[in-house]
Formats: sequence, C-alpha cells, structure tokens
Amino acid sequence: MSEPSKPLRSTSWFGQHGKDGFIHRSWMRNQGHPPHMFDGRPVIGICNTFSDLTPCNGHFRELAERVKRGVYEAGGLPLEFPVFSLGETNLRPTAMLFRNLASMDVEESIRGNPIDGVVLLCGCDKTTPSLMMGAASCDLPTVVVSGGPMLNGKYRGEDIGSGTHVWKFDAEVKAGKMSMAEFMDAEGCMSRSAGHCMTMGTASTMACVAEALGMSLPGNAAIPAVDARRHMLAHMTGKRIVEMVHEDLRMSQVVTRESFVNAVRAVAAIGGSSNAVLHLLALAGRMEIPFSLDDWDAIGKNVPTLVDLMPAGKFLMEDFYYAGGLPAVLQRLDQHGLLEGGAATVSKMTMREQNASAEVVDERVIRPHDEPLHKDGGIAVLRGNLAPLGCVIKPAAASASLMQHRGRAIVFDSIEHYNERILDPDLDIDATSIMVLRGCGPKGYPGMPEVGNFALPAKLLEQGVRDMVRISDARMSGTAYGTAVLHVAPESAAGGPLALVRDGDEIELDVAARRLHLHVDDEELARRRVEWQAPPPRMTSGYQRLYHDHVQQADAGCDLDFLVGRRGADVPRESH
Ligand code: FES
Repeated sequence: MSEPSKPLRSTSWFGQHGKDGFIHRSWMRNQGHPPHMFDGRPVIGICNTFSDLTPCNGHFRELAERVKRGVYEAGGLPLEFPVFSLGETNLRPTAMLFRNLASMDVEESIRGNPIDGVVLLCGCDKTTPSLMMGAASCDLPTVVVSGGPMLNGKYRGEDIGSGTHVWKFDAEVKAGKMSMAEFMDAEGCMSRSAGHCMTMGTASTMACVAEALGMSLPGNAAIPAVDARRHMLAHMTGKRIVEMVHEDLRMSQVVTRESFVNAVRAVAAIGGSSNAVLHLLALAGRMEIPFSLDDWDAIGKNVPTLVDLMPAGKFLMEDFYYAGGLPAVLQRLDQHGLLEGGAATVSKMTMREQNASAEVVDERVIRPHDEPLHKDGGIAVLRGNLAPLGCVIKPAAASASLMQHRGRAIVFDSIEHYNERILDPDLDIDATSIMVLRGCGPKGYPGMPEVGNFALPAKLLEQGVRDMVRISDARMSGTAYGTAVLHVAPESAAGGPLALVRDGDEIELDVAARRLHLHVDDEELARRRVEWQAPPPRMTSGYQRLYHDHVQQADAGCDLDFLVGRRGADVPRESH
C-alpha cells in the first residue's frame, strides 16, 4: 500500500491522542471495528441513497457491501452513510424540488465527517446530480457508482421501456386502442428487476454523464443492475477510491471544462434527456467551471445520435450494454474528432486511453457515424421575445414536421387549469394550435415538474393526431417524447413573457433558426405587463419558501443562489 501524499483529513478525528481521539474512536468501536482500522488508513465514505421509497435504488445495500469489499481489500476503512433519497415516482410535488436540498445534505455529511474520499451510489434521476453537486462543493477524491438499469421490460413478446411505454399505452387507452385490463397487465411487465428506468431517460442519461465526465470507472453507465459485472465494478471502485486518496486525486482535478465538453457530446450521441441540461449547468456552478446554456447548443451541434434507444429509438439499456455501452460510444466519438481525449478520469487514464479498446458489438444499437439515428442529436437552445434567457428542445424526440411551425396559442395557466380545460369538448383547438402551459417553472409550481409533454386533447387523439407543439416553463421526463419546448426562462411566475401570452396569439417556432417568437407587438405586451401580478409562493414558510426565494432560473440550472461554488472540505475542529 502506498503512503498518502499528505496527511489524511480523517487523522484529525481518529489520529488524535488523549480524550478527543478516545471519543472519536471509542464510539465507532461499538460497531466492532478493531483498533487497527484507525491506524491512519484512508476512510472512505459510501454515500448511500438506498430507500424503500426510491424503488430504483432499492438494491443499494448490497451495492454498498460490494464497494466495502474493495475498500477493505485496498487497505481502507469503508463507512456508509445515508442521505436524502429522491424517488422520481413517489416524491411530491416533484423530486426536482428537493435536488438542491439533497445536495446540501450530501455536502454537509461529507464535510462534517471523518471522510478522506467518497463513493457516491447514484440511481434514480435526481440522485445522480444531487450527489455530484454536493460532493463537488467539498472537492474530495470522489467516484460515482451507478445502480444500473432494470432488465428490459417484456409485454406480450414486445420489449417495453420504462416511462416511454406508459405514455404510449396511456395514449392508446385514450384513443380506444387498448383496454384497461391490458393496461393493468402491462404494469407488472415493465419493471421486472432491480434497477432504474431502462430507457435513455434521465437516470440512464445522468449515469452516462457521470461516466463521460470521468467520474466513474469505464462501463459504469450501462451494466444492468442485476448483472454480476455491476457488483464487480462496485468492488473495483472500492479499491480505486483508496488509491485516489493516496494520490490526492480530487474531483476538481478530474472534472474540468473538457469533461463538460465530453458530457454534452455524449448526451447528444446517446439521445439523452433534456434534464441533463439543468443538472450539468448546476454542477458547473458548483465546480466554478465556465459553462453556459449556449455551450449546450454550440458544443452539441452536429453531434449525431448514434445510440438507438427509447424514447427516441427502439432499444433499451440492456441492449446498449451488450452492444458495447458508453465506452464504445466515446471511442466512436473520438474517431471522429468529437472527444476531448486528454480529459482526466478517476481511473487515472485519460478518456482516450480508458476507452481505446472499446468496441461496438451491435451496430443496430450503436450506429455507425455516417448512419446515425439523428444527424443532429444535440439539445437546441432557442431564444426570442418569448424566452429572452433561453429555452430548449430535444429535436431527436420531436416531430420533424413541427420543427418550423406557426400556430395559435391555447394557454393553460397551471397544471390544474390544464387538467380542467383539456377535458372541455368545446375547447377551440386543432392540430395546428400551439399549447402553452405556464406556472410550472422552478418558482411557480414549485420545483419545475416533468409535465412539459402534457397530453393532447382526447378529441384530437381520437382523430389520430399524435404530436403538437407544446411550450412550457416545465421540464419533460427523459423517457418522454414530443415536440416540447421546455425550460422557458424566465418562467411565468418570475414575470417572464410567457406570463403575457393569451389564447389566440400567434407563436412561431423555428428550431433551425433557434427562434421562438410571440407575434404580439411590444406596446401590447407592455400593456399586458402592467396588468400582470406575480403569483404568491404556494408555500409561505419552510424549505419550499427558501427554495422559492433563492432558486435560480433554468438557464442557470435551478441551483439555489447561495449554494453555487466550491467551498472545500475544511471544517473547524471541535475539542471536547
Ligand atoms: Fe427512477 Fe426512472 S423512476 S429512474
């Protein structure tokens, strides 16, 4: 075992003489740790988001055990600690509201404890960014281990994908093409093993982001949760984090601006979730790395979508792993000059070296560069008088015929207003209309729910209409699809122009020109603004009030303003 390059932080707890050292060690020994565990070896925190209420992370106790084996093998002391776990399917009003709260929990848990390096156990959508953000603010040696995706869903001989098939089946029930009994039957066929959503939704996207940032060992993103190789990767991560502590290889030395470039291109190549935009912007803020919404467009432009996964394509994460996984995609990007090959990774190799031997095994799943699923797979950032600070659309999930469209606005003031109005059989709407949903931004809802792909009216679905332009200050689930303009900033509750749109106004969307324009003249908008009143916060106290008062807009990643930045891991020493 090599010696640490500088004194470990944990020695200021466990390495003390006298009563302070006695107190720190003695209480820990009630867990059966022998005295030599406190002999100056690296202490590795295992940040666990296990929760029965977060089904995607329900197998994390075993995953943590595998990490511990590796830590012990390398001569470290693993200590597991729980943090706020964000379960996408259960947490109300929306898990995104608590991403920043969870990141504070992670940051303070790491900083306040005798930890030299940390392994982040990430799975369900928000658990990956919240853990990376919290760890980034502390900047210790840090590695991500993802929980891995579920096995492919199977229904009547067909592969079905988490989320994606919920929206499809729901539309088919509404259109009278699927019975309720069949719908209920499909429910049990979708989630048939441990793991997170197995489509290229937000969880899979963020697992790929962590790997493309260099934050995990290669292959981490796609190994199915129940595959023995996931356990092996967790074990090897445990070994590696001990070495990283000896090398003092901190998160800020691994993740740089080049890493962000790789992550943006990886998201384009995998057809990843638009939610990654917010999470990477917030992470860059924590790491003090210059990276903006416009970078998303500029860096991701002309990167083809190579991975044919739902919701944009047809395969699932299990297929992706067997086809070569993210290392094969990164290697293919490198072959076409689309990878910052010199970027660092936690493995100590460069990104290029780490993926050099990767191979595409199935070109139906990971396509050749000149036969992509979409030629331009990036996230398009639009601006205009309706979104002065920007908004996004994922062209790969949208209808090509609607990329340039002008139509009449039908406006919904809130999700409740939408739910009530969309059922009105006399609603004056047709397939060319543009549906606008507001009051769903970070402050407005609060927490920016995933309702940006709000359903079309049943009467149009019955006519066979499957997509329309939708504009909102909300987010969209990474498992969803549709021509949805999302993250409009500023949001309506913050006084953005979205608040001023009225039924019948003409809106023009032109994705190629990166433009979103409300055809209402400035004088009329000024008149409407005088009449507009800011809605009060939905909660007037508690965390939700703090969030409302401090959350940044979507163009900055929706972090709380006072959490931006890298604060380091120094902490005053308490003397007993
Ligand atoms: Fe947890 Fe999709 S609901 S990853």
